[in-house]
Amino acid sequence: MKDFLSVIDRRASVRAYTPETITPEQVECLLRAAMAAPSSKNRQPWHFVVVSHSAARQALSEQLPYARMLNEAPLSVVVCGDTDVHTGEAAISWVMDCSAAAENLLLAAAALELGAVWTGVYPYRERMDAVRKALALPENIVPLNVIAIGHPAKPPAPKDKWQPERVHYERW
Ligand SMILES: Cc1cc2nc3c(=O)[nH]c(=O)nc-3n(C[C@H](O)[C@H](O)[C@H](O)COP(=O)(O)O)c2cc1C
Repeated sequence: MKDFLSVIDRRASVRAYTPETITPEQVECLLRAAMAAPSSKNRQPWHFVVVSHSAARQALSEQLPYARMLNEAPLSVVVCGDTDVHTGEAAISWVMDCSAAAENLLLAAAALELGAVWTGVYPYRERMDAVRKALALPENIVPLNVIAIGHPAKPPAPKDKWQPERVHYERW
């Protein structure tokens, strides 16, 4: 329990990496953690595109603002949602489901002492189009984010985000 909470505390966005690669076992561990996430009606609308050395990596880093680190990261995981899975009023549920998966992946990266950062794609139309083109995504598959992953160039500084004034007891 203590170890798990310390992983949560230790997780921070890491944007600079050493050239050391990520092993296939580490990739599977990260993706297993992502797929262990909760999802509405347990529909699991997620897909993951693993990018490590293709031209796609360069396209993503050039076309996404605030995502230059993708070109240095030995691994990127593009978290995508299948918009056909939830329908009607619940159609947007893929965003919550895939966000839970993305956070699980970030925590697993911290547990493996890797560094990672969520770079935003959804809901920006231009970014979604750029990722769709670079990865040849089908129409019903929407990219939520691109997570850059690598060995941290230096350990992330610890932060304390605790804000007791944001907690409301019994009512607002
Ligand atoms: C929806 C979302 C979009 C984000 N987009 C970017 C991004 O495009 N580029 C980036 O460097 N960081 C991005 N981040 C990371 C945030 O900047 C980071 O989580 C925030 O500054 C808090 O820092 P921490 O993760 O170290 O706690 C994003 C995070 C979220 C949740």
